[in-house]
Parts: sequence; C-alpha cells; structure tokens
Amino acid sequence: MDQEAYLSMLAEDDSLVYEVYEIKRPEVAGELMLGLSVVHPGRIGREYFMTKGHYHTVLDTAEVYYCLRGEGYMVMQTPDGDTSVESLRPGKVLYIPPRWGHRSVCTSRQEDLVTFFAYPGNAGHDYGTIEQLGFRKLVVEGENGPEIIDNPRYRS
Ligand code: F6R
Ligand code: ZN
Repeated sequence: MDQEAYLSMLAEDDSLVYEVYEIKRPEVAGELMLGLSVVHPGRIGREYFMTKGHYHTVLDTAEVYYCLRGEGYMVMQTPDGDTSVESLRPGKVLYIPPRWGHRSVCTSRQEDLVTFFAYPGNAGHDYGTIEQLGFRKLVVEGENGPEIIDNPRYRS
C-alpha cells in the first residue's frame, strides 16, 4: 500500500519476507503438492508482511492450510468480487474452495507464521492477475491490532 515506505525500506535492506518448502510431486491431477510456508514478522508502513498471493491456474482447484505456529490471516477473493479474510492461529485448518485466490499475512510481532499446505498437483499458479490488480482487502496495523481495510490501490 505504502510505496514510499516500500522504496525506503528496500533501499536500506532487501530482507527476506517469506520462504516456501515444498515436497515436489508430478504436476498432474491425482497428485498432491504439499509443504510449509513461513512468513516472517514485519511491516512495510502499516501493512504486515505477506505472500505474493495467487489464483490457481486451474481455477477449479481447492487447497487446505493447517496453521502450525504464529498468528495471521488468509486474505481471499474470487474473480467475481467476493472477498473473505480468515484468521490463522495454531491448530486452525483453513479450507480454500475452488476459485478463491489467496495470500497469507503474518501479524505476529516476533514469531513466524508457519502453515502446512496441500493442493492438487495440476493446480498451477497464476500470479499475474494479482500482480496487476492486487487484492481487494489489506491487513494493516491499527491502534488496537490488525485491521482489515479496502485496498486503496486496487485496480478493478
Ligand atoms: C500453493 C500455495 C502456497 C503458497 C505459499 C507462498 O498453491 O498456496 O504453497 O504458494 O504460501 O505464497 P505465493 O505462492 O503466493 O508466493
Ligand atoms: Zn495456492
């Protein structure tokens, strides 16, 4: 959201925001891709560190996340304009139905947000749509903790 904060932070240190560890399986229907996503704590301006986010190229494929550590949110939306933001806490299982783009956001102050994920081998990843349009909702730090706001830079 905050381009100025982004550029000044990047000029100082190109720090690692998140990591993904995957057990690679053949990218075909019937297989499951699985692994761990680790989003580090931090913010750019008021906006918490997050993954890039994507739709699955085969839009009709679902995904399941299981939160192992840390606190955060899964920001989700469909190409039709529906939005949903679900909290992530250790022990929570989050099912992302077919057609829902998704991004995870770490709101812990010091801890990584660690999630296990599994999705169909033929799903593929469409990053371009989010790169061009962004997500409709953002998670930012408010006076009393995380707040979900409309993305002022969303391009419809
Ligand atoms: C796979 C999936 C996760 C993410 C990971 C990183 O379909 O949803 O494994 O890939 O959390 O996020 P992105 O891929 O958006 O950079
Ligand atoms: Zn996914």
